[in-house]
Amino acid sequence: MEGVIDALMRDLLCTINDYDLCITEFVRIVDALLPKQVFYRICPELNNNAYTGKNTPLRMQLLGQEPNWMAENAVRVIELGSHGVDVNFGCPSKAVNKSKGGAVLLKDPEKIYQILSSIRNAIGNEVQLSAKIRLGYENTDLFFEVVSAVESAGANDLAIHARTKTHGYKPPAYWDYIAQAVKRSHLNIIANGEVWGKESAIACIKTSHTNSLMLGRGALSLPNIGNVIKHNETPMGWQQLKNLLITYSELELVGDNSFYFSSRLKQWLRYLKLEYAEAEELFQSIKTLKDKTEILRLINLS
Ligand SMILES: Cc1cc2nc3c(=O)[nH]c(=O)nc-3n(C[C@H](O)[C@H](O)[C@H](O)COP(=O)(O)O)c2cc1C
Repeated sequence: MEGVIDALMRDLLCTINDYDLCITEFVRIVDALLPKQVFYRICPELNNNAYTGKNTPLRMQLLGQEPNWMAENAVRVIELGSHGVDVNFGCPSKAVNKSKGGAVLLKDPEKIYQILSSIRNAIGNEVQLSAKIRLGYENTDLFFEVVSAVESAGANDLAIHARTKTHGYKPPAYWDYIAQAVKRSHLNIIANGEVWGKESAIACIKTSHTNSLMLGRGALSLPNIGNVIKHNETPMGWQQLKNLLITYSELELVGDNSFYFSSRLKQWLRYLKLEYAEAEELFQSIKTLKDKTEILRLINLS
């Protein structure tokens, strides 16, 4: 997730959960083959054969509108070791959509087909290719056309965030649309949207008719959500989470990351407070602070 889940957070969350696959934040592709160092910067795990946490495979996500450049960059990420290629057709950002990338492409199934088939031709049939979509841009009129374009282009997996771009991130997620896609297509369909714990995961699986889930904000608000859903683990208590926050802080404070430490911690607490009252209290006590030692002291006291 762009701006919130970086390599450090991926490592932390994939170490305490048994995730099958992790997708990077998107890399914006415009009209060039990006230098290798751009991919290494966004995904330093490429130095570790693109594994994170306890050996969770990592797939790089590309976002762009130009089929040939998308294909060239897809070949590059595969050469660098990414476990497949994922293409983002769901990003609602105004800047990204204005330059014809992300969710705006849901208005143009033919373009989605061109992008994915160009990537498929370039990377060959053995490499996993996935796409991430929403139900549509302003409405769901083209939803099945988009699903069919993704399938015809030769993708393997399709993650569906069950809202339109216009819905933004507002609940509910319309999981029943996912069930209709499952019925009509041979793709491996992955359901996404509004899964925050065991109960919503069960409801999502039941309504969407797929056992494959992709987690978004819930992965941040309940850090062991993957194992809560998959292995019936108890949701992490505050003491455990506090230890995790300390580990996170210590890692953030090493090297380059330390500059962003307080803002990144506050950002995570904004998600954690959806699940933990203690996170709200901690957030309130540190929200105006920048001093790292003082912040760490208050985490320890919380
Ligand atoms: C801050 C933020 C950044 C995101 N960045 C990405 C991204 O880079 N790639 C992507 O496919 N989805 C991204 N998403 C969307 C999530 O992956 C997910 O589809 C969406 O939040 C719906 O799932 P949820 O209701 O479980 O959060 C982002 C969402 C948020 C809130």
